[in-house]
Amino acid sequence: MNTNIRERQFIFAVPFYIWYNIYKYFSGRDNAMNILYINACVRVNSRTARLAAYYIERRGHKVKETALISERMTVMDEGRLNEREEALRKSDTENELLKFAAEFSRADEIIIAAPYWDLSFPSQLKTYIENICVPGVTFDYTDDGFPRGLCRAKRLIYVTTAGGRGLPYDFGYGYIKALCGAYFGIEDTRLICAEGLDIVGADEDAILEAARRDIDGLIADIERKEGTEHEH
Ligand SMILES: Cc1cc2nc3c(=O)[nH]c(=O)nc-3n(C[C@H](O)[C@H](O)[C@H](O)COP(=O)(O)O)c2cc1C
Repeated sequence: MNTNIRERQFIFAVPFYIWYNIYKYFSGRDNAMNILYINACVRVNSRTARLAAYYIERRGHKVKETALISERMTVMDEGRLNEREEALRKSDTENELLKFAAEFSRADEIIIAAPYWDLSFPSQLKTYIENICVPGVTFDYTDDGFPRGLCRAKRLIYVTTAGGRGLPYDFGYGYIKALCGAYFGIEDTRLICAEGLDIVGADEDAILEAARRDIDGLIADIERKEGTEHEH
């Protein structure tokens, strides 16, 4: 190709690239959002996972899924704690014991789907939390000992379904919300919940449909917020 033509192509391509990125930023059409989906559902036909799938579909962004059942994460014993310390000392974020924490800290938005089990959630999720609560990756401490968040996520959406009704959420969603506020620095946490699914005679479809309408409302609220953020 003639050098002249190549130079002319370059002259046109650079302003176009700059203009396109400015347009993407201000119009909120940047599809490169990094959304992390932590799937802590256990059953194959999980209703919680179905609600999370609806949220993801409506959100319209690509999502990276971490399915805790297939990850088969091991609980933290002394050997693993020492190994993790060593990886931290070497700043080896690709290490198996740091990779989940690194991924969590980099996400722009996080979705957790977990069924309501025994007042909280399945133990796989607690093991995952032990894996991501890493000082220096997802949070650190100020000089006077206060935790300070290092995660970039703007929000965390917690999706759950329960067999009964009128349940306390302090030990499941409430616990995750507290972790987000006190440790990770994620201020905006939301709960999507469908209750009463296992009560005899319950209309499962109607309950899940009502939760989907809640998701529609949540998405509208998030999109409104994102629109305002882009205006500023
Ligand atoms: C091990 C286990 C523990 C559960 N604990 C509770 C509970 O404490 N309270 C409740 O209302 N339902 C409880 N349930 C019922 C589930 O919350 C309900 O069936 C839920 O919709 C399951 O979600 P899934 O369809 O995503 O698996 C429990 C179910 C299982 C299997």
